[in-house]
Amino acid sequence: MTRQNDLLAAAGTTALGAYRPPSLVLERGQGRHVYDLDGTAYLDLSGGVAVTSIGHGHPTLLNAISRQATRLMHASNLFTTEPAVRLAAELRRRTAFPRSFFVNSGTEANETLIKLARRHHFERGDFLRTTIVSSRTGYHGRTLGSLSLTGQARYRIGMEPMAGCVRHVPYNDLDALRAVVGADTAAVVLETIQAEAGIVEAADGYLAGVRRICDEAGALLFLDEVQTGYGRTGRFLSHEWSGAVPDACSVAKGIAGGFPMGAVLAAERLAGGLPPGSHASTFGGNPLACAAALAVLEVFDHEKLVENAESAGRMLRERLDHLVSDAGTPAAVAARGRGLLQGLELADGVDPDAVVAELRARNVLITVVGGRVLRFSPALTITEAELTEGMTTVEKVLGDPPGKPGPR
Ligand SMILES: Cc1ncc(COP(=O)(O)O)c(C=O)c1O
Repeated sequence: MTRQNDLLAAAGTTALGAYRPPSLVLERGQGRHVYDLDGTAYLDLSGGVAVTSIGHGHPTLLNAISRQATRLMHASNLFTTEPAVRLAAELRRRTAFPRSFFVNSGTEANETLIKLARRHHFERGDFLRTTIVSSRTGYHGRTLGSLSLTGQARYRIGMEPMAGCVRHVPYNDLDALRAVVGADTAAVVLETIQAEAGIVEAADGYLAGVRRICDEAGALLFLDEVQTGYGRTGRFLSHEWSGAVPDACSVAKGIAGGFPMGAVLAAERLAGGLPPGSHASTFGGNPLACAAALAVLEVFDHEKLVENAESAGRMLRERLDHLVSDAGTPAAVAARGRGLLQGLELADGVDPDAVVAELRARNVLITVVGGRVLRFSPALTITEAELTEGMTTVEKVLGDPPGKPGPR
């Protein structure tokens, strides 16, 4: 462990310190497993926080990246490339969105949405529509614009003033939304499942109601699908479950299989919403990222990964429901989410950090959201055997949880 300790110590003296000090150094990954410096394997039930959609080391992705890297890695946005054009066409074919803009992350995609909302109305002469409405409990990223959308106070401490003109309402409350959306609203921006808040799902009919309120007020509806999109919930985009179609959405995380990339997908009526010169991204849509994203879509089709997210998600839910049922363990009180984005809320008195540490000691990696919810967001390629293995370990740990409460 000396090499690991040396690296962790060096990280402690060189990093700015914005992240909690890491306690594990990862060296490589294969499929759904990652390996530390000693070669110890961990089953990653977090999927690198919902990013490694096709697992690690997939040959289709590796070949696409190395082939493109030998040809052209960067073109600048003065030119276009075949991978960028082909990716936009693929996304147009798979979604309700014929237009796209490529960026490098989820937060950058959401920044683009904010600018698109304001500039779209400006271009139509509606200069007063500058306010954005989002949720008090939402999460949209950490750059200043997306942080302004992010309602949770704990992410904003010491960062104020925000970018301004964002109003926050309680999630799943149509009356509260109706009360603030009006002639000054450029757009409403929401998640379909508030993942970072603890896997909180939109209630039945909520998104359709939001769509109606936006239409009545002349406001745009944008959905942040950074965590929920790209197959994760068992549909290519998670709002497909609701029937409500937004005017645009943001995607990122797994879209290039771990290569940094994000995108805004938009309706035809938003074409021209950001006229030439109004927005840009030096690396956004670079041919390497686009080639990686095309390879991910090829693997999605070939291995039927959206379908796998739905069926593996059903199996995951059965195991989670069992944990919270009477026959289960008092350590778990609720299961939520869809497909391969699900959460297990731990009982008061169970220490979530200790559960994560105990799972890691048993070679399973997982993350906590919303304070006390275990988030299951593995690669969409996860097999039944791997899910069984992971859930058996979770069940064992929660059967005798660290920081266990008294009898219920
Ligand atoms: C819903 C949502 N939006 C935006 C972001 C920010 O994405 P990124 O970290 O790629 O900037 C995240 C990241 O977790 C997210 O879950």
